[in-house]
This record gives sequence, structure tokens and C-alpha cells, in this order.
Amino acid sequence: MTKPTILTGDRTTGPLHIGHYAGSLHNRLRFQDSHEQFLLLADSQALTDNAHDPDKVRRSVIEVTLDYLAVGIDPAKTTICLQSHLPALAELSMLYLNFVTVARLERNPTIKDEIRARGFGRDIPAGFLCYPAAQAADITAFKATIVPVGEDQAPLIEQTNEIVRRINATAGRPILPEAQAVIPQSGRLPGVDGKAKMSKSGGNAIALSASPDAISAAVRAMFTDPNHLRVEDPGHVQGNVVFTYLDAFDEDRAGLESLKAQYRRGGLGDGRIKRRLEGILQALIAPIRERRAQLAEDPAYVVDVIRRGTEKARNRTEATKREVVQGLGLFML
Ligand code: TRP
Repeated sequence: MTKPTILTGDRTTGPLHIGHYAGSLHNRLRFQDSHEQFLLLADSQALTDNAHDPDKVRRSVIEVTLDYLAVGIDPAKTTICLQSHLPALAELSMLYLNFVTVARLERNPTIKDEIRARGFGRDIPAGFLCYPAAQAADITAFKATIVPVGEDQAPLIEQTNEIVRRINATAGRPILPEAQAVIPQSGRLPGVDGKAKMSKSGGNAIALSASPDAISAAVRAMFTDPNHLRVEDPGHVQGNVVFTYLDAFDEDRAGLESLKAQYRRGGLGDGRIKRRLEGILQALIAPIRERRAQLAEDPAYVVDVIRRGTEKARNRTEATKREVVQGLGLFML
């Protein structure tokens, strides 16, 4: 039996953080034995809102790959490939843009949020507005049926499936499979300041390569319950970032539940919950940081991983493009 195919990826805009770990890396690690998995270094998509800084997009290709390898993505099992070097993805994107309307792109909730967050106003880069069609190309070029992503990506998978249905209807046969998003139950990890989204640009992230001091400082500054002034006071667990992170990373579930109960009753200080979280994060990140530092000493190896993965992805994506061109009834050479 052939393994089901996974395609997922990250924009190359900077090193990954623990929000990525909880959101999608963890699932990708879990899937690499049971599935045929491709990870896309989405540098073309990164350019859609970083055209002013292509240097960052280029440098981040290596940073993101180092993060993948450091957390345990094994290039013998998972194919890591570079979006801008897979021409079939761009070609499929152009075809798909004819199967989606501008109004539908503007209605995509993720795109709406991101346009607001980036303050584009009326100056939305065309590539940005259209990236859902490009992401549909990414997913379908591999004929992926499973896409492990953070919850913000769900509307993009939904839009992918709409395009798939239109293409299949036009072709009169199911050339492309629909894809399913796999989203962690814990939901999105907020920033250390309590803001809804952890992001490097927002300055509220803990990188997977963070130093021990950076981890301590981030946990110390972490938002808790502003009304929990004295240890004896009852405190709120809901909306308390320290508990949200403990929910995502603490494996001692029973211990955590009794701490929550004690915090709610009163008698548990913020210092204690922060020390518990800090210990967990230091233990999670230390081996990742060490492995990352070792890998960073051999950039030629890292480049080789990307080159080999991209070669492997090229044939497969090219084959799908030809099927789509043919399926749509265009002229074939
Ligand atoms: N949009 C994703 C992000 O913001 C990156 C990405 C590009 C992606 N292509 C993809 C994710 C295909 C899943 C599948 O990080």
C-alpha cells in the first residue's frame, strides 16, 4: 500500500519559533514515518509581503532548513524542497488564477486578517492577494491529501479544495485530490505578551534557537493574570499565557491540572508557574539549539539537502502540471 502524501511548508521570513513547533512541526515529526512527506521552503510566497527585503527571504531559506533538521526532520524520510526552484508550482498558479475570482480572494478570512495586520491599505501587492491560488498549486502539485498547519491556514486549504473541484469539474474526471488540514487541538499559541499571534516581527516569540538567557527573559516577562497581585489571591487560568504554554508543552497533565486548581483557589504564585514553564522550555529547546549549532557549521550539507529534495520534487510536480494542462483540454506538445 502506498503511503498518503503530505505537503506543508513555511514562508522563509526568519527562524521558526515554539509557536511553529506546537502548531505544525510536532505533527510533521509524527507523520514522517507513516506518510510520504514534503516540506516546502516557501520563498516565493515569502516575497509576496517581503518584496522590500529579498535578502531576508534568501537567508531564511537556510535558517528554516536548520530548524527543520534540528527538531528532527530527517531528510531521508521527508523531502525538503525550495518553492522558487519548482517551475511547475508557478505554472499551476497561473492556471489556477483563472478558476478563482478576485472577490473570492478578497473574502478569504486569512487574507483579510493579514492585509489588516500588514497595513497594506489599498496598496496590496497582487502576488499577496493571489497567494491562496499559489498555495493551492503547492498542495495539489504533490497531490497531497494531508496538510499539517496552524489553524490560521484552514481557510487556505478550504480555498484549495474549491479550486480542485473546479479543475476536476472542467476536466470531467478527478485529476486532483482534495486535501485535509491537520490542525493541533491546542489552537494557536499566543505571543509571550498575550497578543493573539506569536511572531518574530512582533517581538513576542521564543525562537527554536533561543539562548538560555533569552528563554528566561521571555518567561519572566510573560503575561499572567494582571489581577493576581499576591500569592494568596485567586487567579485566572483562562487567558493566562503561562498556563496556555503549559497546556501546549507540559506532558505531566495531572500535575498541571492540580496546579491550575491551586492557582484558581489562591496560594500559588506566578513565580512558581513560571519556573515550571521555564524548565520545560529550556529542556525542549536545549537539544534543538545544540543540534542546530552543529548543523550550522556545515552549510554545504544543508544546501545539499535542499538541492536533493528539490530535484526529487521537480519530477513529481512537473508530472502533475502536465496532467492538469491535459485535463483542462489545452494543447499538448
Ligand atoms: N502559508 C504558509 C505559511 O504562512 C506557508 C505555505 C506555503 C504552505 N505553501 C504551503 C503551508 C502549502 C501548507 C501548504 O507559513
